[in-house]
Amino acid sequence: MADRVLDLPQGRFELVRRPDRARSQLRAWDAADAYLARHFDEQPVVGTLGIVNDSYGALACALAAHDPYVVADTAMARAGIADNLERNGRAAGAVVSDVDQLPAALDTVVVRVPKTLGLLEDQLHLLRDHLAPGARVVAGGMVRDIHTSTLDLFESILGPTVTSLAERRARLIHPEWQPTLTPPINPWPMRWSHGGTELVNCGGIFSARSIDIGTRLLLDHLPPSTGTVVDLGCGNGVLGIAIAQSETVDQVQFVDASSRAVDSAQLSWTANAATPEAVFYVAERLGAVVEPGSVDVVVNNPPFHEERAVGDGTAWDMFVDAHAALRRGGELRVVANRQLGHHSRIRKIFGNCETVAANRKFVVLSAIR
Ligand SMILES: C[S@@+](CC[C@H](N)C(=O)[O-])C[C@H]1O[C@@H](n2cnc3c(N)ncnc32)[C@H](O)[C@@H]1O
Repeated sequence: MADRVLDLPQGRFELVRRPDRARSQLRAWDAADAYLARHFDEQPVVGTLGIVNDSYGALACALAAHDPYVVADTAMARAGIADNLERNGRAAGAVVSDVDQLPAALDTVVVRVPKTLGLLEDQLHLLRDHLAPGARVVAGGMVRDIHTSTLDLFESILGPTVTSLAERRARLIHPEWQPTLTPPINPWPMRWSHGGTELVNCGGIFSARSIDIGTRLLLDHLPPSTGTVVDLGCGNGVLGIAIAQSETVDQVQFVDASSRAVDSAQLSWTANAATPEAVFYVAERLGAVVEPGSVDVVVNNPPFHEERAVGDGTAWDMFVDAHAALRRGGELRVVANRQLGHHSRIRKIFGNCETVAANRKFVVLSAIR
C-alpha cells in the first residue's frame, strides 16, 4: 500500500488518494507539494490565500490555518481534498472547480504546475483578475513538468520570473506580479471544427487542440442509437454530439469527472445547435448521476493513465458503471488502445465483447447488456 503519512513543518498529515485503490502505490502528494509547504513555513502566507491545482489536499491541509480558497478541476480531486481536510481536522475557505470562482484580490497564491500547459495558460490568464496589486504568486512542480514554455507562460502573463534550485526533483517558480503588463490574448477556450462539428475546448481537457486518433476510429464506428445515450468521459463532447445526429436519439447525457471537460461539452453542444435534449454531469462515477437500467447506449473512450502509470482502474470502473446503467439489450461501445486488453475486462463484466473495428493501435469494442 502507498505511504499515507506526510511530515511537514506545519504538521503530520494522513493523506489518501481518491479513488483509494488497495493495490496502488501512488501517494496523495509529491515532492513539489512538500517543497511548497516548506517554502510557506519559511516565508509565511500573508492575507487571503488561493491554492490552484491542489491534487488531494496536501497543500490545503498544510496551509489550512489561512482558510485557503482551493481550486481543483476534477470531482475526485475536490472530494479527495474535502476528505483529507476532514481526516486531519482542518477546513478550507472553499473548494471550487476553477480560478474564475476565486475571490477578487487574493494576496498570496500557490499554483501547482499542472501537466497540461493549456490548463496552466488559461488559469494564469484567469488569475490576473483575482490578484491584489502586491500579490505574491509562488508556483511549484516536478522538474519533469517544468519546461522553458512553462516559465514563458508565467513571464508573459504575470511578470518577470525566476526559479529556485531543484530539491528532490521539484522546483519552485517565482513570478513577480506586474498588474500593468499587457499579456498575450488568452487562446482558451479554443474552437475548431471536425467534420462539420464545431468543438469548443477549455484549456487542460483531453486532446484540446485536435481530435484524438482513437476518438476518430470510434466516430467511424458509432453504434446505431435510440433513446438515451451516455457519452461517458465526454471531454469536449465530440462523441455525444456525433451520436445526437441520429433522429432516434431522445437524450444525450454528457458525463466527465473534469469540470473543464463538461464545460467544453456544454459549449460544444451549444455551438452545434444539436436538437435532442442534453444533460451535463460532473461526476466521479456514473452511478451517482444515472439510474440503473435507464440507458440505451454508452459510448466511451476511457482514460489510460493514472498519474504517469498506465492504469486500468478508471476504465474498469467505467465498464462496471456502464453495465449497471444500461437496460437489458443496451450497448457499451468503447475505443481503446489495443495493448490495454480491455476486451477481456469487458467480457468479464458483460459476458460478451465483440471487436467492431481495429487498426494498428486501437480497437473498437462492443458489449451488450
Ligand atoms: C481519453 S479521454 C476521452 C474524451 C472524449 N470522449 C474524446 O474521445 O475526445 C477520457 C475522459 O475521461 C475523463 N475521466 C477520467 N476519469 C473519469 C471518471 N472517473 N469519470 C468520468 N470521466 C472521467 C477524463 O476527464 C477525459 O475527459
